[in-house]
Amino acid sequence: MSHDDFPTDDPAVVTCGLPYANGDLHIGHLRTYVGGDVYRRALERLGQETAFVSGSDMHGTPVAVNAEQEGVSPEQFALDWHEQYAATFPKFNVEFDNYGHTHDETNTAVTQQLVSDLEDAGHVYEKEIMVAYDPIDDQFLPDRYVEGTCPYCGAHARGDECDEGCQRHLEPGEVEDPESTITGNPAEYRERTHKFFEVSEFSAYLSDFLDRLEGTSNARNQPREWIEQGLQDWCITRDMDWGIDYPGGEATESPQEGGETAEQDLVLYVWVDAPIEYISSTKQYSERVGAEAFDWEAAWKEGASDAHPEGGEIVHVIGRDIIQHHTIFWPAMLEATGHTEPRAVMASGFVTLGGKGFSTSRDRAVWADEYLDEGFHPDPLRYYLATNGGFQQDVDFSWEKFRDRVNTELVGTVGNFLYRSLLFAHRNYDDAPIADGTSDEVDARIEEAIEAFAAAVNDYSVRAVGGAVTDLARFGNEYIQRSEPWKLVDDDPAEAAQVIHDCVAIAKAIAVLFEPIAPEKAERLWDQLGEDGSVHETTVEAAREGPAGDLAEPTELFEQIEDERVEALNEKLEARVAEAADGDGEESGEEDETDTSDESDDTDDTSDMTDIEPLSDDRIGFDDFQELDIRIGRIEEAEGIEGADDLLKLRVDLGAETRTIVAGLKQLHDVEDLPETKVVVLANMEKAELFGVESNGMVLAAGEDADLLTTYEDAGPGTKVK
Ligand code: 2FM
Ligand code: ZN
Repeated sequence: MSHDDFPTDDPAVVTCGLPYANGDLHIGHLRTYVGGDVYRRALERLGQETAFVSGSDMHGTPVAVNAEQEGVSPEQFALDWHEQYAATFPKFNVEFDNYGHTHDETNTAVTQQLVSDLEDAGHVYEKEIMVAYDPIDDQFLPDRYVEGTCPYCGAHARGDECDEGCQRHLEPGEVEDPESTITGNPAEYRERTHKFFEVSEFSAYLSDFLDRLEGTSNARNQPREWIEQGLQDWCITRDMDWGIDYPGGEATESPQEGGETAEQDLVLYVWVDAPIEYISSTKQYSERVGAEAFDWEAAWKEGASDAHPEGGEIVHVIGRDIIQHHTIFWPAMLEATGHTEPRAVMASGFVTLGGKGFSTSRDRAVWADEYLDEGFHPDPLRYYLATNGGFQQDVDFSWEKFRDRVNTELVGTVGNFLYRSLLFAHRNYDDAPIADGTSDEVDARIEEAIEAFAAAVNDYSVRAVGGAVTDLARFGNEYIQRSEPWKLVDDDPAEAAQVIHDCVAIAKAIAVLFEPIAPEKAERLWDQLGEDGSVHETTVEAAREGPAGDLAEPTELFEQIEDERVEALNEKLEARVAEAADGDGEESGEEDETDTSDESDDTDDTSDMTDIEPLSDDRIGFDDFQELDIRIGRIEEAEGIEGADDLLKLRVDLGAETRTIVAGLKQLHDVEDLPETKVVVLANMEKAELFGVESNGMVLAAGEDADLLTTYEDAGPGTKVK
């Protein structure tokens, strides 16, 4: 089944992964929230009715561990952070319709109801399992209270996730060589009775679901493999006090030493009540605005509304580390309880800082508040985070790169076009000059931009949403430059008025189409254009209507960032990192383990620790270079290899012949996007057999993200690189 293109007649809900309420937000955290907000605004500009919701994730060991370190109750600790997040997001123009939290009454009730429904439908059972236990401290060690070795890939892993290795969710009892993260004591496994949700029964459903699922390809590729490898049932309870009680306050009996049993209170695993907050938060929104304005049940419940029998359009925007929860456990829970399945999952890459991970404990971060306190406007950062790479690719932030994109694209392209056009218009005409409508050429170009914008939304590409606008502004600059209205004013006033009318029409289209990326700047532009109402209420139809406004004196929309500013910011960051390193000596690396913030937290730090290596002084002669037979190739086909998580089997056209080449690109590229890509191949690389496939050559790629080397112009397959 394929979905109708947006906009549809069904209500949409865009959600953002819930941040754990346990620490300061840095700009890396903002990527998914900005991405979600851009996407939601873009849907609305297309005319799609949309609710945008999220909330703070209050439960689980990520919060409990940090609260314990601070010596406060988890509830107080999490509430304080929740309030801070609720205040921070709007400062970046991330405007949720509702931002709740998982510990509130709504979510407690909705969660307990949904879990009871799961039970009533016969999908929950009890099982005795081995749970990590610290015999010295006399306590059970759920999830992040225990660490050890991942049984699947051998990496160091936390109790419930292999975040430094294969990224799998780990079930209680799975981590090998367990140790307590609180005391460092070796842990043992003890038998306990827990509740399980029979996810394995949903394997066939989930396979079909993944075929229907839209969004980024990483959200489909990894889960397909997990399903092929066989799904396990999912333990949905924990031995903890902090969390939502298992419905009915029901206790299970667990075996004790000496053959006795004892009552055991259970709370729900944090990953049960966290995604349910998506529903609860939508419900709170409906309750606030009224079901006529937004009907949460029509969106979330299949069959609840005659007008929307299949529910709404649910789009989850998340970090790529939580794909499994959103494409396996969550859709299975929704399916089992008659809720609407997600239409799309957009899973973002991480954000790095100067090529390395953010480190909160080492103060190696640009903090969200710090960015604003430096006097920067939120919209340029939104632009940078949304458009600096494909959504599933990692994005690197440095003040230099930020400066370059702001100065070149926002100031140089968009801002420059708007300012020169509107200033000329304002000085020469009282209102936007009324020609006989917009010229055919410009009309067609605006239409092209609207189509590119709609295609970007339907491709789930926030980057392309921005691209539609910068391309239009580039055209605008070229159009005004070649039309030279400043010369026409005297010679051909009617033609001058036409050109300026066209430019103001382009500016108006930019205001509408840029609203998702730069909402505040678009609003200011709307005012400068003298248009009625709010740009936040427009649809792309407004971009099609020519200008009618009473132009105000324009001001420049974006500010140039000077080199000295960048130097000062870098110095400040370096000094802070050095100070933090002095302050905590050798302990800093360990602290990172408990930093459980969302994507791009310190765990990334360990996966990308390398600085740029010094250039090699070990020279080779030209003859040595000539021995390398480097050729241009064109990928014809790309497919996975059974049992290999990272590898792809490529068929590459090398002009003289087509070769099979195995390359480690699977997790880093959209497999379906690779065919037709030109690549650079070391053709006389020794043959090697990998997972039973003979690789005949090597595809060259740069860095940890395997950025593929390609050609600048039209060198064809077989062309020698020399
Ligand atoms: O990994 C995390 O940061 C979780 N707090 C995300 C939860 S998203 C959702 F499912 F609620
Ligand atoms: Zn692993």
